[in-house]
Order: sequence, then structure tokens, then C-alpha cells
Amino acid sequence: MKVATHHLRCTECAAVIPKDEASSNFRCPQCGGLYEVVYPWSDVRRDVKPGTETDASSAPTATFADLVNLLPNPSALRWLWQERRSSTMSVDQSGVWRFRDLLPIVDDFEKVVTLREGNTPLYDLPRAARAMGLNWLLAKHQGMNPTGSFKDTGMTAALSVAAQRGFEWVACASTGNTSAAMAAYAARAGLRSIVFIPEGKIAWGKLSQSMDYGALTIQLKTDFDGCVKILADLVQRFPIYLLNSVNPYRLEGQKTPAFEIVEQLDWQVPEHIIVPGGNLANSAALGKGFTEMYQLGLIPRRPKVSIIQAEGANPLYRWFTDANRVMKPVVAETRATAIRIGNPASWRKAATVIDELGGWCEQVSEQEIGLAKAEIGAEGIGCEPASAVTLAGLKKLVALGKVTPEERAVLVLTGHTLKDSQYTIDYHRNELFTAAEKAQLSPGDQARHAALRRPPIVLEADSSVVLRTLESYMNQPQPV
Ligand code: F0G
Repeated sequence: MKVATHHLRCTECAAVIPKDEASSNFRCPQCGGLYEVVYPWSDVRRDVKPGTETDASSAPTATFADLVNLLPNPSALRWLWQERRSSTMSVDQSGVWRFRDLLPIVDDFEKVVTLREGNTPLYDLPRAARAMGLNWLLAKHQGMNPTGSFKDTGMTAALSVAAQRGFEWVACASTGNTSAAMAAYAARAGLRSIVFIPEGKIAWGKLSQSMDYGALTIQLKTDFDGCVKILADLVQRFPIYLLNSVNPYRLEGQKTPAFEIVEQLDWQVPEHIIVPGGNLANSAALGKGFTEMYQLGLIPRRPKVSIIQAEGANPLYRWFTDANRVMKPVVAETRATAIRIGNPASWRKAATVIDELGGWCEQVSEQEIGLAKAEIGAEGIGCEPASAVTLAGLKKLVALGKVTPEERAVLVLTGHTLKDSQYTIDYHRNELFTAAEKAQLSPGDQARHAALRRPPIVLEADSSVVLRTLESYMNQPQPV
């Protein structure tokens, strides 16, 4: 297949550079901004009529028709993407690369590094919907990826670029999921990987993964933001390919769940997408995915994208609610360790998504996260704490009237429940919250937590004892 070319464009000063001229830290040398990948069709505007000139910076004199003709038409794309799912080729079986027409970032698609990521389920959450008075609620479970988080979709993309450009070493700073994904994909490609993680502030499941997949795992005595600083310095001095989400190719893979969501809804567009916010690349990537589909006529409008942060790691929420819209980094603290980030690299990209697509930013407390996680678990789905902020945040958006009962909302669940089983065990044993946090709960919330908690029961191996215990449980109502 003929591969269309792409450029990198600074999202701050709009400087465009050829695809292989980014510096090792992926920052614009002129203004320090982050890059985005742009394609010949990226600037097609749907309000420009066929035959008239566009302002596309990568092709200033091209017409709408010229640009759109670079691609199959929307119905052909929809057909092709579905058709590839029944192919036996690994590149087709990947839920990222089956959309490769919209991410031509590698020279050879047959050599991409894939673990058959993507193609994740879209579940309904009927009990959570009912409890909030919504007609329906959906969850796109990105924790059902090969290493258990949404990071796989971005890693297959950026690591394939690294492999095809001949790098031997790759590295990332991480709160645990990026490192797990990077280690796995690097191992598949036969590359060597270095992981920088904050010591003591990472879930065991994630830490074990980077060791299992053979990465050099370095625990730094600092937080995630401190790890990012050290790595930024290191990439200037050592020939390693940086795989943090400042690498714009990560976002190309992470935009594909947007394609899947509308495909799974038979090409209908939901009204709201609710995403957790940490380093803020995922919300930016999903926004890019919806925008590209809109520009190409695959969907008639874009959903609102709302971002939810933990109260203790809420720089975007502070920006959103600040009358002057100033971004001030914070020292982050939350048990949802995946999003324990105070100085998010991609905040401007995410802010643009909120502003352009509409949507809000909310913050949620530790107790609200715990409750929402237990509710998602009780639906038989489960997720890690950082993913549960979406449900906790949605409750607030519903209460504020930002999401109405007839609207369709999709929660993006970013990580698998087994990533942080210690959190789940502590929650159910009622050992997660401090006494002060418990005292803050309203009587209604206390009852809700109590109804959801399922601590393990230790009994003598005696069937009469077991029966008596079961009988006492049978008389208790099932929580709704
Ligand atoms: N949810 C989970 C499970 C995550 O691991 C992350 C980020 C996020 C949400 C936030 O996504 O950063 O794009 O806004 N984890 C990163 C990591 C930072 O290193 O694994 P974001």
C-alpha cells in the first residue's frame, strides 16, 4: 500500500518540521511546545466547499477535493476497517493498525510491533446509569488491552516508529502503565528498555510487569514529575528514544479508541466522552481522533470530551475554574497513583479539546473514587482507581445538569482492575480511608460504601458453620 507522508507541527507556535527532525525531547526548539502529527488531510475543513481552496499549511494550494481524494471515501473506510477484523494478518487484527489509513506514521506496516491491541469492549453500566437517573451509560474498557491499560494503543504506534528508525534503547518515566506497555512492546521488538518510576508510589501489578517483560527498572526517589525531569535531561546525553506521551506518535495510537467507540455504536456519535486526566495526553488523543473523523466526513459532529481529575492532583481543574485560565503545577497526592501527576505535559492539548469540542473539567475526592470503583466492580467489569474517576466525575456532571438523562455518555476505563489489587483489597476490608476521611462521609454515602464492601470471611472448614453464615447473608438485600 502507498503510505502517505506526515509532518510534525508545534501545537503552540504552529512551526512545521519534517517527520524525522524532532529533537530527542520532542519539544519545539523555538517555543518549547509539543508537536502533533499532521497529515495531508489534517486541515481539511468540512465547511470549505469542494473545489475551493483551503488554508491547509501542509498543502497550501490543495483543494478540498484534492485532499479528500487522498483517502478512500468514508463508507469505504468503514467497510475496510470492519473487514480487516476477519483477516489473519497481525497488522489487521490489531485494533490500532486496522485503522492505519488514518495513521500512516511508519514506512512498512507489515513490520509494526503489535500484541493485537485495541478492539476493546464497549460495555453498558445499567445499574450505575439507573442510580444517576440516566437512560444509559457505556464504558469503553481500555483495560482489556494486552498489558491491561490504554497505553498499549499508543505504545504499538510509537514503538513501531522507534524500531523502524533503528533505535536500540527506548525509555519512559511512568506512574506504571506506560512502563508496563513500553517494556512489553520493546521486548516484542527486541529493543532494550529503561523505565523510570517513582519509588513507592506505583501499584505492584505494574511494577511486576516491567520486570516480567525484561526492562531495566529504575525506581527514583522522587515523584512522577521528578522522573520526567531526570529523563528529559538524560535523552539529551544518551541515544535513547523517548516514549513518554510528549512523543506525538503515542497519541496517534491512542486516538483509535475514538474510531472504535463510534464504530461500536454503528457510527452514531455519543454526546459525552468522560476521560481521567493525568499527564493529559489521552484526552488530547481522543479529541484528535474525533476531530479527524469529523474532518473526513466519517461522523457528522463531535462529542463533548470532559476530563476528570483527583482532587489531590488537579492542575487542569484549577486551570478550568480559574477566571484567568492560568496553569499552575501542583504537588500531587492521590491513591489513584496512575494519575498522581502535578505538572501535566500535554495540558494545553487537552485544554484545546475541552474548548473546541465542549466539555468540562471536574475533580473528585478519594472517597468518591473509592465508591465509583466499587460500583464499577459490582457491575462485573472492574477497573483501576484512576479509571473510576470517570464515574465519580460523571455523577457531578449529571448533578450540575451538564449531562442530561437522554444523552449518551461513554466512560473511558483506562486500566484493568488487577493492576492495583491492593487498593481493592484495602477498600473492601475498610482499610483504605483514614478515620478523618471516613468522618467526612455523609450517612447516605457511608451506607452505600457499606452495601458495596465485600471483605473476605474466614471460617472453619465445617459445612454447618458455612451454612449458618450463608443463611445470615441470604437475608440481606442485594445492593442496587
Ligand atoms: N488512567 C490510567 C490507568 C493511567 O495509567 C493514566 C496515565 C491515566 C489514566 C491518565 O492518562 O496521562 O494521558 O492523562 N498513566 C501514565 C503512566 C502517566 O505513566 O502510566 P493521561
